[in-house]
Amino acid sequence: KKSQAWSALFSEPMSELVKRYTASVDFDKRLWRADIQGSLAHAGMLAAQGIIGAQDLADIQRGMAQISAEIEGGQFEWKLDLEDVHLNIEARLTQLVGDAGKRLHTGRSRNDQVATDVRLWLRGEIDALAELLVDMQRALVGVAEKNTATVMPGFTHLQVAQPVSFAHHLLAYVEMFARDAERLADVRKRLNRLPLGAAALAGTSYPLDREAVARALGFDAVCENSLDAVSDRDFAMEFLAWASITMVHVSRMAEEIVLWMSQNFGFIDLADRYCTGSSIMPQKRNPDVAELARGKSGRVIGHLMGLITLMKGQPLAYNKDNQEDKEPLFDTVDTLAGTLRIMAEMVAGITVKPAAMKAAAQRGYATATDLADYLVKKGLPFRDAHEVVAHAVKLGLQKGVDLSELSLDELKALHPLVGDDAPEVLTLVGSLNARNVRGGTAPAQAAAQVARHRARLG
Ligand code: ARG
Repeated sequence: KKSQAWSALFSEPMSELVKRYTASVDFDKRLWRADIQGSLAHAGMLAAQGIIGAQDLADIQRGMAQISAEIEGGQFEWKLDLEDVHLNIEARLTQLVGDAGKRLHTGRSRNDQVATDVRLWLRGEIDALAELLVDMQRALVGVAEKNTATVMPGFTHLQVAQPVSFAHHLLAYVEMFARDAERLADVRKRLNRLPLGAAALAGTSYPLDREAVARALGFDAVCENSLDAVSDRDFAMEFLAWASITMVHVSRMAEEIVLWMSQNFGFIDLADRYCTGSSIMPQKRNPDVAELARGKSGRVIGHLMGLITLMKGQPLAYNKDNQEDKEPLFDTVDTLAGTLRIMAEMVAGITVKPAAMKAAAQRGYATATDLADYLVKKGLPFRDAHEVVAHAVKLGLQKGVDLSELSLDELKALHPLVGDDAPEVLTLVGSLNARNVRGGTAPAQAAAQVARHRARLG
């Protein structure tokens, strides 16, 4: 009995090792829905074009309905002998409906079939991921909204720099995720073209209506070059690049959550349900979720490296190498979906500890720039003002107090331009309110950002 789709030519069966080495059904069965959807669109067009009969189409539709039910119900028997998802489904179809099943592959190759399946499948996943990105942004905006006036130290070099509002800090991540959403929409645009009709590599001699298939499957257009259609995986590379960038954003946020939760910061707390304990240290509550999210960014970046390396030496058109595009894609989709979902939920539930944030800002002379700016506004050149304030910080360090805790006399002794209104600019709130330029950290600006995002995210 013939077991492979091509075995008439072969004088001996494929070696067991080769069979196992080349089979992909264990993982690519995940594409079954897209595979059936693509086959039905192809069959519908073949019938409309008079290439197969109306009865063939009806048989194919009936067979595919049963196969879908079998797969969904877990009764479908996936066979390694049949290599991949495509041959498994086609073989079962033929078993169920006979000759009509054998006619399905007219004008088609697995090369354009698999390219179509992966695009169809990934498009659905992209739409789900886009929703998760919206949820993530909403979660951040929700916490920001309540913290426009919560002062924390802003850092450069991880050294206290200037006061910022916690809202402003969170909204920086919203900007990143908003760009990630834009990039994802852009990936989708280029992905959404139909390879089917390219056949193995050269197109086909059957009078296919590719535009009709594209419309039926929701593609914006057809791939214009058959060689490109079957061998292009840039859509997958772009998607993994998107995923890597997004995971880098998640990872930076996760890193901050880990830092903020540390006793040495104490800026936030996470609900117990998002923490894990230690099997030896009874006092521990660890931010494992954030750490894992940070760690999983490495895995996704690895998939990007794997795929672009996979593509770089391939001559046109299809090569079996391309079978290796699937596992990185699958794992990336799963990793992104799992990570975005849990991080959004966790972020929405953080407990903010404003007193600790404020104390940290005070310890770090975060308003030193404000005092310099004050002197500049009184007429002192900035470089001189910088020098004067350095002396003020030195004095504060000697006395072990913040700038705002220096007496008016001590301040005045620094420079004749220091007036009675100086202490005001040294407060954290004064510093925050002063930065009321578009995109600045003033609470009014943060509130405006929140409103803008709310309107955008709905
Ligand atoms: N399982 C194959 C893949 O994922 C399907 C295409 C196989 N085509 C071929 N000519 N061997 O790429």
